[in-house]
Amino acid sequence: MIAAYQARCQKQVDAALEPLFAAPRAELGRLYAAMRYSVFNGGKRVRPLLAYGACEALGGTAQQADGAACAVELIHAYSLVHDDLPAMDDDDLRRGQPTTHIAFDEATAILAGDGLQSMAFAVLASTEHNPQSAEIRLSMFQALAQAAGPAGMVGGQAIDLGSVGQQLLQPALETMHRHKTGALIEASVHLGALASGRADEHSLAALSTYARAIGLAFQVQDDILDVESDTATLGKTQGKDQANDKPTYPALLGMAAAKAYALELRDQALQALQPFGEAAEPLRALAHYIVERRN
Ligand code: IPE
Ligand code: IPE
Ligand code: MG
Ligand code: MG
Ligand code: MG
Repeated sequence: MIAAYQARCQKQVDAALEPLFAAPRAELGRLYAAMRYSVFNGGKRVRPLLAYGACEALGGTAQQADGAACAVELIHAYSLVHDDLPAMDDDDLRRGQPTTHIAFDEATAILAGDGLQSMAFAVLASTEHNPQSAEIRLSMFQALAQAAGPAGMVGGQAIDLGSVGQQLLQPALETMHRHKTGALIEASVHLGALASGRADEHSLAALSTYARAIGLAFQVQDDILDVESDTATLGKTQGKDQANDKPTYPALLGMAAAKAYALELRDQALQALQPFGEAAEPLRALAHYIVERRN
């Protein structure tokens, strides 16, 4: 089920993203090529899937969530380009291909990330990509800014870099993961729900509980895969967390307990979806996928 849903949503978000990468003038060809390279190189599109899934869970159409889906994937792509830079995780492989700063150069990678970030907000603001009421568009804009910025993902990346070589206790590790990865995943669900035009306080609260659980589970599984998977399957260099001396869930709890924790979070997420009917099946399938995935 998830494979078919994933294929449909990937196609849909890719079609919506594609027109954004036509360089408006020849001098910008290299910058736009780097942005395109960073987005169209085989990402799983988990965040767009969550946006579509949340919109559909509330009875909206997938098309209504196109703007949300593009915006969260653009932020995600920018975050990876910067995460891989020598000043951060210093990775040369992403999605089985050279990272953006290797395929282009460091300055271009920095600018490509900056450009992708601005583009995300431009998409949300535009009625063409995001045909919601002005009020809903503003709420989406605020939610994404909060999640991507210093109180969210950027803050989490700062905590991550500041924690190299340290042994964090579980509450501190959880704070780091909730910020660097959970916040954007939560925003993906939130923006998708808002895009349906049918979000009420109760449904938003239930979806937020779901999203908080899978947001953390996603990074716990990412940490697990960094230890257990292999470079070919991952498409990124296996073992980098240990090599970079990063605090992770397997390092803190041990592998068995880290896996049990991921499953516990999945169950919390499924529990939160109980009030929803069949329309929430894609979100349920995504909760399973997030802890079962191999890359
Ligand atoms: C990797 O995210 C970075 C994290 C936030 C853990 P994904 O695993 O979603 O990466 P892609 O987009 O599929 O490559
Ligand atoms: C990345 O976390 C989080 C963000 C990019 C915000 P990681 O550094 O663990 O991601 P990977 O393992 O390089 O994909
Ligand atoms: Mg990192
Ligand atoms: Mg990294
Ligand atoms: Mg990782």
